[in-house]
Amino acid sequence: MTHRKKIVVLTGAGVSVESGLSTFRGQGGLWEGHDPQEVASIEGWRRNRALVLQFYNERRAQLEHARPNAAHLAIAALEDRYDVTVVTQNVDNLHERAGSTRVLHLHGELTKVRPEDGIYDRTFSEEEVIDVGFGAVEPGDLAPNGSQLRPHIVFFGEAVPKIERAIDCVQAADLMLIVGTSLAVYPAAGLYRYARAGVPVYLIDPEEVALYDKRIVQIRDVATRGMARFTDMLREKGF
Ligand code: APR
Repeated sequence: MTHRKKIVVLTGAGVSVESGLSTFRGQGGLWEGHDPQEVASIEGWRRNRALVLQFYNERRAQLEHARPNAAHLAIAALEDRYDVTVVTQNVDNLHERAGSTRVLHLHGELTKVRPEDGIYDRTFSEEEVIDVGFGAVEPGDLAPNGSQLRPHIVFFGEAVPKIERAIDCVQAADLMLIVGTSLAVYPAAGLYRYARAGVPVYLIDPEEVALYDKRIVQIRDVATRGMARFTDMLREKGF
């Protein structure tokens, strides 16, 4: 088999905007009308589990009716020519539904839940993760170990267990592409710094992203058009 070049694609909320899902830092800092600290932090969860469950139930129901857009499809199509890993900050499953086969969810997955208290004292093992699809989870819904089910989401204030694997992917990449993220939340925002010297880093976003790194070349456009431009550019450069 011929050697395929490795591309790592880091995505954020912006890649799913054209599928009708909203970003976090738009609309005056509110996420679907909520303060992210209330619905997406570990403190918020402990304060009001019912509210947090309800919020994610709504997000799951919304996701059921969302469809992958041309940007998700173009990212999946890169696999025809390259060895691609998608590292996403998104909890939706639109990359998988577009056909991407290797997707690393840094911040968890909307369609999955797990026990609030895992067998390893608040951390969890992958075997405890339960797929609920687009279904609702209510207070009182318990895991096999008897503890309340919680969203399989990395809340603010929690560790990002998959970051090490993401770093390995970035270090191995021949090209990095970043799509639709404000690069405001660490550790994901610092991932591009692990790209090897000389490895090109492209960023697709319609807004100016506050970055002071000259190695990043921005394609200033929405994700769907930006991906079309990016794909053409790779072809022109013979990458
Ligand atoms: N196409 C591409 N990018 C877009 C589009 C679009 N159509 N519309 C908006 N954007 C860009 C915005 O300009 C912004 O830079 O998407 C980015 C979204 O930024 P955020 O809302 O900050 O989302 P993200 O970077 O994914 O947030 C990171 O923060 O709240 C936490 O855990 C949550 O994963 C999330 C993390």
